[in-house]
Amino acid sequence: MPTSPRPTPPPDLYGRDRPDRFLAGLDRFSSWYVPLATRRDRRPRPPEDDRPRELTVARRASVAPDAVALRLVAPDGGMLPRWQPGAHLDLELPSGRRRQYSLCGDPADRYAYRVAVRLVPDGGGGSAEVHRELAEGSRVAVAGPRNAFPFAREPRVLLIAGGIGVTPVLPMAREAAWHGLDWTLVHTGRTRDSLPLAEEVDTLARRHPGRVEVLADDEGGVPDAAELLARAPQGAAVYACGPAPMLDALQRAFPGSAATALHFERFTAPPLVDARPFTLRLRDGRELPVPADRSALEVLRAAEPATPYSCRQGFCGVCRLRVLSGAVDHRDHKLTDAQRAAGDMLVCVSRADDGACLELDV
Ligand code: FES
Repeated sequence: MPTSPRPTPPPDLYGRDRPDRFLAGLDRFSSWYVPLATRRDRRPRPPEDDRPRELTVARRASVAPDAVALRLVAPDGGMLPRWQPGAHLDLELPSGRRRQYSLCGDPADRYAYRVAVRLVPDGGGGSAEVHRELAEGSRVAVAGPRNAFPFAREPRVLLIAGGIGVTPVLPMAREAAWHGLDWTLVHTGRTRDSLPLAEEVDTLARRHPGRVEVLADDEGGVPDAAELLARAPQGAAVYACGPAPMLDALQRAFPGSAATALHFERFTAPPLVDARPFTLRLRDGRELPVPADRSALEVLRAAEPATPYSCRQGFCGVCRLRVLSGAVDHRDHKLTDAQRAAGDMLVCVSRADDGACLELDV
């Protein structure tokens, strides 16, 4: 294609037909320096609430034989970010472990968060560390609040809590009562004495007669999921939190109920679906077979006990590792396409195809 000669630029405001040498130099300098100087501001920054902050344990109280509640406040006594029922905090424990605990206090209290932690002696060590290390006056780094279990305030609500699963559900019940919803709370556990936050559940029951039910296994047997769901009025939304077997049973029984929505929060890894065996290869050449009934995280932790994790459900991102080769079957709810394309993998839930090998940067 023929090109035409470039037109002569018009003279500037002062009638000069050549650019001013000082201004041209300034322009060249600013086009190089300004983007460099402001690069930090153009990077995506985590939202305010995602940045960990140090909080002080202002009060620690026993809320069951094996559970403690912690009241966390800002060291300067300042206000804390808002939260809604169903939200949780990420606690970064002194060992570096990161664990998530539902908020169980009052969302209107802008000066304190409250979490309750049940001791799991054969767990991953997080709850034991909270019980052992977080005395009154100690500091702990906290990220959040985040909400993966939001309460939508449907007009008819059935709340089901198993044991310590009452923590996110209690603020939902208070909110349902405040907004005049048609609500019912069922709190289940092995014995009445073992139920966490039982006093607060009792208070709610006294204030709202007929809306709160406590079911102890040693009195009436382990409640059946269909029986629990039978309490849901037509078109109700069900919110459930508790042990994995209870949630699995509720999911199976849900289609036969009168409710129209089931929301739940797990404390443990979800069941493996359509999982196949594959292999992990570490940088030192070790090959770790991952059977169909175990996660890559479980296998890695057996070989490398310091492998970090938190939610085990593919949403917190703590277990992220870099894959050097191999195709990942991504099953998380966290990584962006760009992160996946860069080779990131959440080993708590993601896997590989049958017989494949993933080489990890570990
Ligand atoms: S442990 Fe939370 S995403 Fe894997």
